[in-house]
Amino acid sequence: MHTAQKITKVFITRRIPQERLKILSQAGVCKVSLWDSDEPVPKAELLKGVAGAHGLLCLLSDKIDTEVLDAAGPNLKVISTLSVGFDHMAMDEIKKRVRVGYTPDVLTDATAELTVALLLATARRLPEGVVEVKNGGWSTWKPLWLCGYGLSGSTVGVIGLGRIGMAIARRLKPFGVKKLLYSGRTAKSYAAEVEGEYVPLDTLVSESDFVVVSCALTPDTQGLCNKDFFCKMKNTAVFINTSRGAVVNQEDLYQALSSGQIACAGLDVTTPEPLPTDHPLLTLKNCVVLPHIGSATYSTRGIMAELSANNLLAGLQGTDMPSELKF
Ligand code: NDP
Ligand code: DGY
Repeated sequence: MHTAQKITKVFITRRIPQERLKILSQAGVCKVSLWDSDEPVPKAELLKGVAGAHGLLCLLSDKIDTEVLDAAGPNLKVISTLSVGFDHMAMDEIKKRVRVGYTPDVLTDATAELTVALLLATARRLPEGVVEVKNGGWSTWKPLWLCGYGLSGSTVGVIGLGRIGMAIARRLKPFGVKKLLYSGRTAKSYAAEVEGEYVPLDTLVSESDFVVVSCALTPDTQGLCNKDFFCKMKNTAVFINTSRGAVVNQEDLYQALSSGQIACAGLDVTTPEPLPTDHPLLTLKNCVVLPHIGSATYSTRGIMAELSANNLLAGLQGTDMPSELKF
């Protein structure tokens, strides 16, 4: 006997290419509504949209807190986020109520590649060079003009040798990096592949020529890169952050950059996002800021969207998710 399947209500918080989400419509069990815009959904609309929903597909720019969970109500079974980071979600409360899907691995290569690009652009002063060519500042070849720092023979320190941190280390090693240090909560056996040396954070910070932050944002890592941290870095050191803006105390970073305490910084993530155009960090030539584009390749974003749709559907159907966040 054929039993009618129950229709589930799904709310999606942003315009995402429909062809990537077709699994939801093909399943024939979802009534999908979405915030059909490229801009973030206002909180009031999010609360309205999620009311009575069984599934929520959200972005890292959506704060998923108890108010949102309460607005969704008891129907809610699954939250699927189009990101690997989950610091925008009140996990302590969420884990008591629903399953969560996320997008690890599929964005690792793109994010590691962008981190290397940002590191090279920052250390070799590419944005400054491009500006000089355009504004007539390029008068002739000069021995010390626009000199920066190279990776060959350097010590690189990776804070958080997880999926992305390891992918960054793998890409940096062939540039002639002499020593690869890393820090985190535990030593990693897989670090042997890059001859990674597990060291205390202080050692990493004081010995590295390049400090690369690729850890998750947690209560322990919030504000980790502060005045004390920058004071321990070499004056010639390059600081790169592609994790989350809140890992860095930006006032302290501004002081470190403007006083010459450290050489330069490259940031793909800031607090807030977008960074206001009059922010002091944007006045500095030795600070390169990108608009959170670590995973932004067409292919990666497409795969992330499909994975988040598959996670959502599995959560609705009570089956195994391709990538479920385990608490
Ligand atoms: P993983 O979970 O694989 O790695 C996270 C790492 O953070 C782990 O190695 C962990 O180390 C480390 N970590 C956790 N707590 C601490 C701590 N107290 N001190 C130092 N390290 C710590 O995640 P991914 O590599 O996949 O992603 C990492 C982060 O990158 C995401 O959470 C996200 O914020 C950011 N990201 C940014 C992107 C961008 O567009 N710029 C794109 C994708 C991700 P340990 O195991 O030792 O605890
Ligand atoms: C993430 O996935 O956490 C990134 O910040 C965006 O891809």
